[in-house]
Amino acid sequence: MARILDGKLMGQQITAELRPRIETLAARRRAPGLTVIRVGDDPASEIYVRNKVKTCRDLGMLSEEIRLPATISTSDLLAEIATLNGREEIDGILVQMPLPPQVDARAVLLAIHPDKDVDGFHPFNVGQLVANAPAPRPCTPAGVMEILKRSGIAVAGAKAVVVGRSDIVGKPMAMLLLHAHATVTICHSKTRDLSAVCREADILVGAIGRPAFLTREFIRPGAVVIDVGINRVTDSAVAQAILRGNAAKLDAFQAKGSLLVGDVHPLDVAEAASAYTPVPGGVGPLTIAMLMANTVQSAESRLG
Ligand code: GUN
Repeated sequence: MARILDGKLMGQQITAELRPRIETLAARRRAPGLTVIRVGDDPASEIYVRNKVKTCRDLGMLSEEIRLPATISTSDLLAEIATLNGREEIDGILVQMPLPPQVDARAVLLAIHPDKDVDGFHPFNVGQLVANAPAPRPCTPAGVMEILKRSGIAVAGAKAVVVGRSDIVGKPMAMLLLHAHATVTICHSKTRDLSAVCREADILVGAIGRPAFLTREFIRPGAVVIDVGINRVTDSAVAQAILRGNAAKLDAFQAKGSLLVGDVHPLDVAEAASAYTPVPGGVGPLTIAMLMANTVQSAESRLG
């Protein structure tokens, strides 16, 4: 039986470890503060941002959401960020991605002061990551490293394959695994014989945003599989193809009208892997926990 790596539990452990640090800051100076900027009405972003703000408040941190219209110009967004850079009580600024096409996303990332960049997306912090120097690390890959560490999975010497090369997940994930002494391969849409490369992996990380794409033939028996994808499937034919006649899961899909599935095939991974992260309840909760950790760390550094 494959071991299920319970991200919800590990996320709760991490936030519980943050509580005394937050209480100390609040008693001595003030609680850590995070501002999340959401541009437009992307429904997925709305849910992510709501969870981030709620978790902050549950932990006794200051949290605010700034909602801006989808039509905003780059210069107006930069002006908002400049104000936040200057506010003493704000330790973290997060601009939820993706941004509308008229906004220059790189200019936005550059505008956030690196000390308040709790996403770790500012080019200075990306450079610090590459150099393995202290700086906030991107939350999702940092969360994956916590899962591996807290689950006692050996990374040093392991063959790790990362499927996906995004700036948010794939690239920083590969860098963190490399710093932990894995032998790392990054794959993408142009990789030749992708399944054969994936089958080499002791640790396989899926971060491509394609529902249930990594099926049995991508997974070496006994591999550890980390699924970063969260895809909502509403097409009944697609759901049926994924669920392959699993009656209980098909009933659940019919009742709900949608299926939440990762980039890894949920039935195949349970059979082939030695350990894996489920979707939901795997990597997702760690992303939020690491954002909280980055915000607390920023407050501690800024308040001395
Ligand atoms: N959109 C999806 N994931 C993320 C993330 O980790 N940070 C930000 N800012 N936007 C995202």
